Amino acid sequence: MIALSFLPYLRVLFFLPSLTLAASATTSTFTDTDTGITFQRFFGAKTQFGFGIALPENPTTDFIGQMDFPTPANAGWGGISLADEMVGPLLLVAWPTGNNVTSSFRLAKNEDDSPPVTTGSFAVSPIPQGTSANGTHMKFTFLCQNCIDGKLGFAAGDTNSAGFEMGWALASKAVKNAADPATTLPFHNSGFETFQAQLNLARSASFGEWAAMAGVAASNGSTTPVAAAAPGSASASSFGGGDDDDDDDDDDDSDDDD
Ligand code: HEM
Repeated sequence: MIALSFLPYLRVLFFLPSLTLAASATTSTFTDTDTGITFQRFFGAKTQFGFGIALPENPTTDFIGQMDFPTPANAGWGGISLADEMVGPLLLVAWPTGNNVTSSFRLAKNEDDSPPVTTGSFAVSPIPQGTSANGTHMKFTFLCQNCIDGKLGFAAGDTNSAGFEMGWALASKAVKNAADPATTLPFHNSGFETFQAQLNLARSASFGEWAAMAGVAASNGSTTPVAAAAPGSASASSFGGGDDDDDDDDDDDSDDDD
C-alpha cells in the first residue's frame, strides 16, 4: 500500500527527460580557423550541419554568417531561416558547384514547393577565405548586408536576445541545376529544425575587421548604439523568434538534431 502511493511521483519522474529533449538547441562560441571569426554557432551532431553568426557590438543592418555541412557526392544544399519558421522569414540557401559555392535568397509561400528566389535591398558578399567546397563538405562564409530587419527575421533590437529562434535545413539530394541560383531545391531530407541563437553573445568589436574580408566595406561599424527593444515593440521582429509558443514543429522530433 505504502509503495503504491509513490506511483504518481514515479510517473512524473519518468516523463521529465522527454520534456527536456523537446527544447531546441542553443548556439555556443566557436572560432573558425580559416577566417579567425568567432561565431555563436549551432551545430547538429547527427547531420554535421553548422551555422554560425557574428554581429557588430552595436548591430544595425549587417551580420556575418557561416554555414558548413557535408555534401555527399558534392550534391545537396543547406540553408537557414532568419526566424523560427520556413514560410515567412528570409531564407538563404547554398550548395556546391564544383569547388565553388552558389547561394540565393528564397521566400517560401508554402511548405509544399521549392521556395522561389526573392530580391530586396539585402545582399550577400562571400568571404573567400572561409568559402570552399571539396567534394564531400562545403563551407560558406558571408557578410549579409541589410539582413537585420524585423520584416525579414530579427531586428536590431532583437540582438539583445539570449535566444532568438532561427531555423536550419539540410538536403543530401542534388538541386535541379547547380549552376542556376534560382534552381529548384529538393526537400530537406537530411534534417530541419529551429535553434536558439544567442545573438547577445554574437557581438564583437572585431566585426568591422572580419567584414572587411568580404572585400566590401561593412555598412556599419560598431558606433551606433542600438536601444534594447521592448518585447512586441514595432522595431522588433514580426516573427515569433525567441518565443516558445510556436509548437508547429513539435511533431518532427524524428528530424531533431542537436
Ligand atoms: C522543396 C523545398 C522545400 C520543401 C518541400 C519544404 C517542406 C517543408 C515542410 C513540409 C516542413 C514542415 C515539416 C513539419 O512540420 O513536420 C518544413 C519545415 C521547415 N523548413 Fe522547409 N521545405 C523546403 C525548403 C526549405 C528551405 C529552402 C529552407 C531554409 C533555407 C527550409 C527551412 C525549413 C525550416 C527551418 C522548417 C522548420 C520550421 C517550420 O516548420 O516552419 N525549408 N519544410
